[in-house]
Amino acid sequence: MGANINYKLISFDKLSSTQTYAQNLIRSGKVSDRTIILANSQTAGHGRYRRTWVSKPGNLYVSFIYETEKRDPKLSYSVAVAIAETLISFGIMPTIKWPNDILIDGKKISGTLIEYAKDFVVVGIGINIKSNPNVRFYETTKVADFAPKISRDELLSTLIKQMDIWTTRNFTSIKNRWLELAANLNKTITYRGRDAILCGLNDDGALILRCGNEYVMVYGDEISV
Ligand code: BTN
Repeated sequence: MGANINYKLISFDKLSSTQTYAQNLIRSGKVSDRTIILANSQTAGHGRYRRTWVSKPGNLYVSFIYETEKRDPKLSYSVAVAIAETLISFGIMPTIKWPNDILIDGKKISGTLIEYAKDFVVVGIGINIKSNPNVRFYETTKVADFAPKISRDELLSTLIKQMDIWTTRNFTSIKNRWLELAANLNKTITYRGRDAILCGLNDDGALILRCGNEYVMVYGDEISV
């Protein structure tokens, strides 16, 4: 698996957002499966819930475009594992905060935004390498604090290989690896203002929570730890 890595890379010094660029490319009809949009910096980088993603030069800002027939709730797990494995290969031990934030020592180092457009899905990934922003809602960190010698391009080429591996694996192996890397498994988290125990994932990709005596399946929502 992962032997035939065949992506088209389109790279920019500055973009508003690799995500927006990717979507415009899809709308123009001039895009093919496995295209990667890369930018050294972004002027309008954004994340989930329309939050700003501070995008100074030195970090990784990339969007992977894949052709897809339908929405895939399992994709975010593949992506989280791919990013985690990338960091692990450089000796950094991350955990995954559901569904796909990557943390080191509980601080966010990477985020993913998955958006669908026409017959494509755009997987936007940001990894803090040289700098990490001050964010109101959570603590952040960066690769340089753990492995100062890694370059963005080394990180990107490993990430491409890992994306290739994990986006084509079956869900059982993705789920198993995700569970090994999950932060707060079997611990108490907050879901919609209530305490809940994070029990695992079901085969549809839903998070299984236990709130008191009842089990709740959660798709694509936000939990806090
Ligand atoms: C999040 O944690 O909320 C997701 C952050 C996603 C940021 C990346 S950086 C590359 C791509 N372009 C964007 O504007 N956003 C994503």
